[in-house]
Amino acid sequence: LRTFILRARKGSTRPERIKAQIGKEAHFEVVAHALINAFFVSNGFRQDVEMYVVLDSSEDFPRTLKFSEGISFSGFHELAMVEWVEKALRESSGLKKDETRVIAPGLEISGFGFERLVGNLLGTRPIYVLEPKGEDIRGIDLEPHPVFLLSDHLAMPAKTLKSFKRQGLRTLSLGKQMLFASQCVTLIHYELDQRGALEK
Ligand SMILES: C[S@@+](CC[C@H](N)C(=O)[O-])C[C@H]1O[C@@H](n2cnc3c(N)ncnc32)[C@H](O)[C@@H]1O
Repeated sequence: LRTFILRARKGSTRPERIKAQIGKEAHFEVVAHALINAFFVSNGFRQDVEMYVVLDSSEDFPRTLKFSEGISFSGFHELAMVEWVEKALRESSGLKKDETRVIAPGLEISGFGFERLVGNLLGTRPIYVLEPKGEDIRGIDLEPHPVFLLSDHLAMPAKTLKSFKRQGLRTLSLGKQMLFASQCVTLIHYELDQRGALEK
């Protein structure tokens, strides 16, 4: 299992705002592209992948969407990704803090944000924070069933990074060049695919 967590710092929790955030300051296309690269390959769909999208821009509390096995997209374009985000937000009106609602096979939405999500996974899964200044991915033996934390076009808050490092999370670099989160997803798949192929 490979798990990606993308923190969309400006991602709205209001369904009617999502489409308008594509190509604008909130850059919701980053979320769509990351989902496409997490799940799709040419002529196929990756199994054993999960992606959490954390929507931080909220009037009450953040929402976390979990895409996993069973999710079916209507295509591999941006709008096909965004449709599910809108639907999950529409169908979770009245969602309480910390409540989780199943929206469709392979899609659920929860009333909590990034720190709580990472806290839930800590201790059961190896978690790596993606950061250009981190340890070179090529020098690390990634543990099985890894979780990768990424930020969108905005940096991960320094306070959050510091606290993760205090908790012993390792940082992982894909080179000095700052990349899009979606490009990081592709490179991580590549690294894991290569390592898997070597093990066979
Ligand atoms: C577009 S970047 C964020 C840019 C933001 N302005 C900043 O200064 O952090 C999106 C995310 O992808 C990850 N990332 C980008 N380039 C990377 C690299 N070379 N190595 C590791 N992670 C990277 C980081 O998690 C980063 O927060």
